[in-house]
Amino acid sequence: MKFLSAIGLLAATAVANPLARSAGKEFHLKTTGSKLADHNDLFLTTYHTGAGLNDAVLESKADAATAFYLNGTTALADLGTSYPWGFDIGGDANYADWEAVEINAGGGVDGFSITDDTFIWSEAEGFGGWLVCQWFHGSPQLFWLDKYYTPTIPCSCSKVELEPIYLK
Ligand SMILES: *[C@@H]1O[C@H](CO)[C@@H](O)[C@H](O)[C@H]1NC(C)=O
Repeated sequence: MKFLSAIGLLAATAVANPLARSAGKEFHLKTTGSKLADHNDLFLTTYHTGAGLNDAVLESKADAATAFYLNGTTALADLGTSYPWGFDIGGDANYADWEAVEINAGGGVDGFSITDDTFIWSEAEGFGGWLVCQWFHGSPQLFWLDKYYTPTIPCSCSKVELEPIYLK
């Protein structure tokens, strides 16, 4: 389904002008506030998982960081293509304490903002913070916590904040 919509989008944008990134200023997202030292000062980037699909993973090298920007309340990654890559943040579909964060071809979901100098999703939608876990791509990976649950966080995971580092 997502694959098909990505292809449809590619076809639709092939003839259009590159979408104006008139939107907001670009920024990197850096982790802070973790109680695990090796989960701090990491930069959010994308890990390709399929056509038009990426998981949100973290890298220690700033030159591997992805540039993001806000367009209204959608958060988009600048991956150098003519079509957008939006944050897809899983719905509360399976009663889990935390859920995946993906950056996929398309506009993504609404509800993002930079509030008090941190990048957040919508509390009204159930956002209870960001979680970083050592995960199956062999690197730390970003998840979001559902505020309606009280998770038992594994010792290889920690809560973080995402600080925007604005680019010139
Ligand atoms: C930004 O938002 C506007 C209005 O919702 C939309 O028309 C436009 O396609 C968006 N741009 C990107 C790059 O998503």
